[in-house]
Amino acid sequence: MMMSTFPLGQWQVRRSGFGAMQLAGPWASGPPDRTGAIDVLRAAIAAGVDHIDTAQYYGPDLVNELIRDALYPYPDGLAIVSKVAGRPNGDDPGRLRAGIEDNLRSLRVGQLAAVNLRLPSPGRVDAHFDDQLAVMAAARDAGLIAGIGLSNISLEQLLHAAARTGIVCVQNLFHLADRGSAPILDECLRQQIAFVPFCPLGLPRGPENPVLNSPVVHQVAARLGATVAQVALAWLLQLAPNVLLIPGTGSVAHLRANLAAEDLTLDDEALRALDGPLR
Ligand SMILES: NC(=O)c1ccc[n+]([C@@H]2O[C@H](COP(=O)([O-])OP(=O)(O)OC[C@H]3O[C@@H](n4cnc5c(N)ncnc54)[C@H](OP(=O)(O)O)[C@@H]3O)[C@@H](O)[C@H]2O)c1
Repeated sequence: MMMSTFPLGQWQVRRSGFGAMQLAGPWASGPPDRTGAIDVLRAAIAAGVDHIDTAQYYGPDLVNELIRDALYPYPDGLAIVSKVAGRPNGDDPGRLRAGIEDNLRSLRVGQLAAVNLRLPSPGRVDAHFDDQLAVMAAARDAGLIAGIGLSNISLEQLLHAAARTGIVCVQNLFHLADRGSAPILDECLRQQIAFVPFCPLGLPRGPENPVLNSPVVHQVAARLGATVAQVALAWLLQLAPNVLLIPGTGSVAHLRANLAAEDLTLDDEALRALDGPLR
């Protein structure tokens, strides 16, 4: 597969981006390997990555500082996307707006390509959700963000939000072993909204990881001369043109291998195997 791109609102980004959460350190909660993190971020840009996913609450604060220290002044065309954590029972609108502003300050930018309203869990549409959307729309109207994203949302919430205001990306859990968000991916495709699967290499991490430890994924990888991570990423890329990847890593070697998944084509035999039980 050749390198391809998809719109992230006003940005046309490479479909392979970078998720920065892991740079905060083991289990994303520090302490970080500062030098290693800066090397990975610079290697990502040098390799043509133009989409980085972050949050002020990674670290907390640390990951945005690392991105700024590694990359500021930012290359033209780099889309930095962040998140603000919405509360289930509604927010003080000032808190969400302040969360967006914290990101702008720490990353030292006047505007972010997008900010995701990140919900604690997918849920129902209610007045709280509308209030949260209104804060996001006001931040976009004020020019603080170019686009509104939604994360950890239900299909009902996506349909409701997208009918009221422009949504540029949706970030939900989705990987080979958890396809629960497939209807949301389909709806995003229908509306040409970028779908950004988080934890694309599977969850939980470690020995219980259902993707990286799957014998089926291992067999496919061995037959195609690829790694299991590349099979997991190539499968997502092949699924739909609006999928944007943000795998996270603290390793330059893994970063490069993950980008090379763009060149891996999964044939029918591989796709059939991956659609069966993974264990
Ligand atoms: N919206 C949300 O609620 C939410 C939730 C979670 C994550 N996210 C975003 O999604 C991004 C990605 O998610 P994630 O980091 O949780 O999971 P992930 O990208 O699926 O996996 C990251 C883990 O896989 C390892 N890894 C990466 N490349 C590898 C390779 N080629 N071979 C073997 N292992 C590899 C990494 O370890 P090494 O460092 O050793 O490579 C790391 O432990 C995050 O950075 C964050 O930006 C969003």
